[in-house]
Amino acid sequence: MGVKTLWITLAITAYSYLGTASALPVEDAVLTAPPHVPPAISRDHNARVVVHLETIEKIGTMADGVEYVYWSFGGTVPGSFIRVKEGDEIEFHLSNHPSSKMPHNIDLHAVTGPGGGAVSSFTAPGHTSTFAFQALNPGLYVYHCATAPVGMHIANGMYGLILVEPKDGLPKVDREYYVMQGDFYTKGKYGEAGLQPFDMEKAIEENADYVVFNGAVGSLTGENSLTAKVGETIRLYVGNGGPNLVSSFHVIGEIFDTVYIEGGDAKNHNIQTTLVPAGGSAIVDFKVQVPGNLIMVDHSIFRAFNKGALGMINVKGEEDKVVYSGKISDAIYQPEGSAIQTIEGEYQVAKAQSKEDKITFGKRIYNANCAACHQPNGQGIAQAFPPLAKSDYFNEDPTRGISAIVHGLEGPIKVNGESFNSVMPAMQLDDDELANVLTFILNSWDNKGGEITVEQVQKVRKQKAH
Ligand code: CU
Repeated sequence: MGVKTLWITLAITAYSYLGTASALPVEDAVLTAPPHVPPAISRDHNARVVVHLETIEKIGTMADGVEYVYWSFGGTVPGSFIRVKEGDEIEFHLSNHPSSKMPHNIDLHAVTGPGGGAVSSFTAPGHTSTFAFQALNPGLYVYHCATAPVGMHIANGMYGLILVEPKDGLPKVDREYYVMQGDFYTKGKYGEAGLQPFDMEKAIEENADYVVFNGAVGSLTGENSLTAKVGETIRLYVGNGGPNLVSSFHVIGEIFDTVYIEGGDAKNHNIQTTLVPAGGSAIVDFKVQVPGNLIMVDHSIFRAFNKGALGMINVKGEEDKVVYSGKISDAIYQPEGSAIQTIEGEYQVAKAQSKEDKITFGKRIYNANCAACHQPNGQGIAQAFPPLAKSDYFNEDPTRGISAIVHGLEGPIKVNGESFNSVMPAMQLDDDELANVLTFILNSWDNKGGEITVEQVQKVRKQKAH
């Protein structure tokens, strides 16, 4: 579809909402928490489907004894499952809970339009944004938050699935489940107890501590296992939120009778392992012939046994040990811990010799690490990210900038008369990089000038966050 057609379509759609009523009958979307899926759509016509989804930040359990502050759509990771029909008009209301520290938005891959809805849905805490789109293409689509820093929002759990059923629906099955993989990055290593903060450096290195289904280790094992009966056909809507890793999705002890490749129309049959890209999906159907525990894994297998990417389907029914040996014991489900080997390499970084060098190097660092939130011109974003340009907060005491980068910054501050109450994660920059980027900021956008030294950085680094 050309851009022009698209805009006309959007314009017409928007117009119909501005009028007294849409031509289509209106209904509220049924949303479900994982691993559940809303019922198949029985109507044979299109509708205007109203979706109310809330973003909320709250503490949850990542693994036994390990807690994490999840950012979520609908209070769960992955977020609520949305089910519509090809051709439906979706009126989307995104509310950001007043207790949120961050603004959020939503980019639905099912949207044909700029940013998948991201800009139209940018929502400050305590606000609701509304936008609408028409589901033009059938398929299983990922949605996710796209607020800067995007990777951090996704890494904290802000993703889910929306199914756009084809006009004639999907073949009927006995059970449908919602399984979505994600990778998580924590300060402590896998299994280290306590409330674990997000680790930006590990996220950038794609060095995940946890790779899990449905947001946590054990979310689909033991009492939380999926269930089925011998003779039934099961359909899994499989998504991968990433942010980084591709999933080699496999069910130990089963063969997928049908895979809707990448969640689209193309069907493949008799598949052992299907790739689910980060920000992508697959639909898998299989009939279960024997009882026992089928084990869902990411077949990048250390992730399954050492990082959490393991779930179970408990199949009950008449015994048949020919296909499934029953040899897999509980022991295999215990985390084995992980041994990480490192090889120390040598690398050299260009050192700044002068203030001018610092500004040049610092600009690169700024663009790579800071510009997504504070904007390339240092203006920030109202209600979310404080300005660095002509910032009274920063110019009054530039060591505040060092502290914010080294220790992170959380809680209310006032900058140029405006109040901000959000979270800035500590950035993993070394002493030179930090001196460079702050010197760049000091000498940009009408700030007061001057220079930040490595010694100043080291001094602040030794102090605790305040
Ligand atoms: Cu977000």
